Amino acid sequence: MQRRKFLQYLTGGVALSAVTAVAGYKLMGEQTIAAGNEPTALPIPALLEGEMKDGIRHYDLNMQSGTHEFFKGYKTPTFGINASYLGSTLKLRDGEKVRLNVTNNIGEVTTLHWHGLHLPAKADGGPHQTVAPGTTWSPEFTVKQKASTFWYHSHTHEKTGEQVWRGLAGMLIVEDEESKGLTLPNTYGVDDIPVILQERAFNRDGSFIYASSMHDIMVGMKGNIPVTNGAITPFFQATTKKVRLRILNGSNSSFYNLGFSDNRPFHQIGSDGGLLESPIEMTRIYLGSAERAEIIVDVSDGKEIFLISDGKAPKGSGGRGMMGGMRGMMMGGDGSKFTFMQIRPNGDLKPSANLPSSLVKIDRLDPRNAVKTRRFELNMRMGPGMMMGGGSAFSINGRAMDMGYINEVIKLGDTEIWEISNPSPLPHPFHVHDVQFQILDRNGAPPHAGERGLKDTVVLNAGETVRIIAKFEDYADPDMPYMYHCHILEHEDAGMMGQFTVVA
Ligand code: C2O
Ligand code: CU
Ligand code: CU
Repeated sequence: MQRRKFLQYLTGGVALSAVTAVAGYKLMGEQTIAAGNEPTALPIPALLEGEMKDGIRHYDLNMQSGTHEFFKGYKTPTFGINASYLGSTLKLRDGEKVRLNVTNNIGEVTTLHWHGLHLPAKADGGPHQTVAPGTTWSPEFTVKQKASTFWYHSHTHEKTGEQVWRGLAGMLIVEDEESKGLTLPNTYGVDDIPVILQERAFNRDGSFIYASSMHDIMVGMKGNIPVTNGAITPFFQATTKKVRLRILNGSNSSFYNLGFSDNRPFHQIGSDGGLLESPIEMTRIYLGSAERAEIIVDVSDGKEIFLISDGKAPKGSGGRGMMGGMRGMMMGGDGSKFTFMQIRPNGDLKPSANLPSSLVKIDRLDPRNAVKTRRFELNMRMGPGMMMGGGSAFSINGRAMDMGYINEVIKLGDTEIWEISNPSPLPHPFHVHDVQFQILDRNGAPPHAGERGLKDTVVLNAGETVRIIAKFEDYADPDMPYMYHCHILEHEDAGMMGQFTVVA
């Protein structure tokens, strides 16, 4: 019964979208699901808490290659970190000194970047911190971070897209004193759930498709099969009335407009880099690649629901009219309609505490304290000529990523405004390393409530200009840069990235 309803739902058109926009993709997954592949329980990545030795918390991460069973009986060649696909969830505590031993056993050069963390550039895991096959890289730093949901992933020069697609990514949770006193669900895997959302494309033999056609680079690599924590539309058995979902858009390039199948309201409590000042009620949340949101959903009515992406772009996000078709392509196979997971509440749910009406205090950065405004324009050349001719089709301020060139030099301790504009016809999620920033405005208007917290990635819709403000503190290194880039990984790999140093 359960299963029939499940399949009905899936074949009702929500998950099984056509992939006509992505010609050449094979549809192995859909037949397999339609043929009655039993949904599996949501995999909960192992929680890695590290081991305290001489005042430093040590973590051992093994980047490995192997196979993962997305479809019963099919072995997909994958990468993972202490796992066959994706990685363990790292738990870090604010104020602690940590050492992460990253061993590369994937058989090719790679890196591991701590997305969203404030740390010295040489510990960042960007394209300069390469880890040769068979070696271990051991960055050390002090955690200076608000409680939130972060992640880590490969950041290998021109190979990030492919390596992340194959599985080199995981979640990273930071805890701090300030949030400890709040009555939020916080039992990992029970009422505090990691939710890594992706989609993948598969060949009929079960192997991944990672194409690098002009189209895949232009719109970013898309898949037609929703994958949540490495499983295709799994179910989560809820045992409590309220469930906290730590949602990461871990896709290479897709924009998800997330909510529940019955459109029930939920509360957003956190953005990329911290909790919000108070919970915000909504029925949909729009996340670009690399953005995170923590939400609380109430399942006390006992109904089975699905976490979906409805494939729509929210009002006012641009990309309408003439570019509607283009946006459709950006959103995935068919506007990113995906059924990511089911929530099945137990018959006998344990009570959850009331949601606090206020969460944390966010110190607003004052634009009057900014010593400088820098401007960044996201450039892409479209059409049949995009991969030809001189220069790169993807750049920032007309300059493509060059490992040997420092684009911007920032003075330690400065507060700066960055004005990012997107004259291209596609949306781009813009990410800055080292800092958590605040969004001042979007086309001159204040950001919506869910974007008023700490951020490290912000979606720029077509034609938009967004102003952000950040303070560059603590770490200076004249020789080692941080990155800023589009988080559509194929755009990043193709050159839509730049480097900045922070100098004393
Ligand atoms: Cu999520 Cu430069 O990285
Ligand atoms: Cu990053
Ligand atoms: Cu982009």
